[in-house]
Amino acid sequence: MTDIVMEARNVYKNYGKLEAVRNVSMQIRKGDIKLIFGPSGSGKSTFLRCMAMLTMPDKGEIYLGEQCLTKPGVDLNKARARIGFVFQHIYLFRHLTALGNVELALRQVLKLPKEEARARALAALKEVKVTECMNKYPNQMSGGQQQRIGIARAIARNPDIILLDEPTSALDPELTGEVIDTLRDLAKEGTTMLIVSHEMPFAREVAEEMIFYDEGSIVETGTPVHFFNGPHSERAKKFMTRIINRTTRE
Ligand SMILES: Nc1ncnc2c1ncn2[C@@H]1O[C@H](COP(=O)(O)OP(=O)(O)OP(=O)(O)O)[C@@H](O)[C@H]1O
Ligand SMILES: [Mg+2]
Repeated sequence: MTDIVMEARNVYKNYGKLEAVRNVSMQIRKGDIKLIFGPSGSGKSTFLRCMAMLTMPDKGEIYLGEQCLTKPGVDLNKARARIGFVFQHIYLFRHLTALGNVELALRQVLKLPKEEARARALAALKEVKVTECMNKYPNQMSGGQQQRIGIARAIARNPDIILLDEPTSALDPELTGEVIDTLRDLAKEGTTMLIVSHEMPFAREVAEEMIFYDEGSIVETGTPVHFFNGPHSERAKKFMTRIINRTTRE
């Protein structure tokens, strides 16, 4: 048995002439926390969506454990149930409470009976420390609370990996802190995560590997120390300088 939870092999995705993902390969092992960062429009979200098969790659393979998801005939709904996904813009059903949102995901994806779905939804809300919101509707919650409900929804079904696409970029700095605390707790528990984020202090604290992504490909990878001490490529150097200046101004 391999401890590789997820793998991309030579993945490509074009939108017309635009090469959004160009020959990207990556392996994520159990308990890994990897962080993808890079300029806007460079294809980070497209790659993450390809990993979850929410967007079909044009070429290349995606593996979940030993199962190749890009082969024809794979039950993608079943595979996606093992992947948690947290979006940049928070998608909660407006007509359902926090508890209802998490519960619905469990009932639809895992086909759990109502009682079991409720118990697991409550446990997930407790884990992200938002039980006080369980009976609130999305418009009665802060952005940070809503995003933590989104995280609860992703972890409730106990997935093999959680993919998070800039989970804090729509939030102001105070609410960002709340969501980062939640991610830090998940990291401590050994949750396997692939995160697109530009939260550098968080990256420094929890990521084993940072992946600098530009123009559809991986330009440079290394530990946070490597990137903070001085990456090799000019593009990563420039980007780090910009992002560190921005963080210290905030
Ligand atoms: N469904 C789509 N149809 C056509 N073009 C798309 C589609 N989705 C993304 N693109 C284009 O693909 C490129 C990569 O987009 P993507 O959203 O993956 O970038 P990103 O790195 O996540 O950017 P950001 O940091 O702003 O979120 C962009 O030029 C974008 O306009
Ligand atoms: Mg994006």
